[in-house]
Amino acid sequence: MTAPLLDVHLTDDDLTTALRADARRGLSSTPKSLPPKWFYDARGSELFEQITALPEYYPTRTERALLDEVVGEIAATARPEVLVELGAGSAAKTRLLLDALTAEGSLKTYVPQDVSVDALRASAAQVAEEFPGLAVHGVVSDFTDTLANLPRGGRRMIAFLGGTLGNLVPAERAEFLAGIHDVLEPGEQLLLGAGLVIDPAVLVPAYDDAAGVTAEFNRNVLHVLNHRLGADFVPAEFEHVALWDAEHEWIEMRLRATRAVTVTVAELGLTVEFAAGEEMRTEISAKFRPEGLSAELDAAGFATTRTWTDPDRRLLLLLAQRR
Ligand code: SAH
Ligand code: AVI
Repeated sequence: MTAPLLDVHLTDDDLTTALRADARRGLSSTPKSLPPKWFYDARGSELFEQITALPEYYPTRTERALLDEVVGEIAATARPEVLVELGAGSAAKTRLLLDALTAEGSLKTYVPQDVSVDALRASAAQVAEEFPGLAVHGVVSDFTDTLANLPRGGRRMIAFLGGTLGNLVPAERAEFLAGIHDVLEPGEQLLLGAGLVIDPAVLVPAYDDAAGVTAEFNRNVLHVLNHRLGADFVPAEFEHVALWDAEHEWIEMRLRATRAVTVTVAELGLTVEFAAGEEMRTEISAKFRPEGLSAELDAAGFATTRTWTDPDRRLLLLLAQRR
């Protein structure tokens, strides 16, 4: 086995600097909001793994089953030498792709990328152990910041699974897709996994599970603010809210102050007031319609070549080619 390379483009200090800017902006805005990437410290990544196993959280198991069915076709169509995976996390479902791509014989290198160094270090090491013939080259970076530091060379496919595209607001999505277009060469591939618009009676419980794991994941951003910026949030004073926004077709997660709360963020010299019942947005999880997603890709310079959905049409896998 070759030990995985790990390029760290985001140090701990870089993360603190970026969180300072996001927290100052988000906690001073009306309404208050924070970007979802701050959920994923070691505890948040672990909580996300627990979410993926919840009975209500259908996306992970649906995508896994769909991938299992169609990886052979994906491998035969795309035949990449390099698989780059953005927001790879534990790369649990990626094993299916790696199996198919190595069986196809084209794949030489796997490049998992993530903002969470803990999650990435573990998954890169595990993939390297399971696939001894594969070069594994991890990249710690923020995909909303730049993709220019991804390693180059070889015929690439970029995979972005799990519906994480939906955690970007539309303007961020357009910029992100344009960024992928910029780093790929004509003919290279993008594999997207995206949640589809379905019945809110199925969607909402997926983000508000009975065991309260998603609530804990949501509140984890307050723990991150406490640890990194010396804030004094009492997470138990905030309740988890998940609602379906039918106009934007996204799930919105919020944290609602259960009483009037004053928080001090020591590192920012900032005092923040929450009125009783005030809500702070912590995540959107947009759901898509196949034609809408293909139109967004078209606008970013990609041609959709294949799409697959599960029998309940809850999830879409989409293969697109950079024009
Ligand atoms: N792809 C996995 C994990 C999805 S969870 C799956 O399908 O199950 C979302 C992952 O994206 C987490 O590992 C998180 O750390 C990462 N992530 C979130 N925002 C990010 C950003 N801005 N840049 C890089 N990684 C990010
Ligand atoms: C990572 N991302 C696609 C998840 C989602 O479904 O939007 C994050 C998540 N939020 C709450 N539960 C899971």
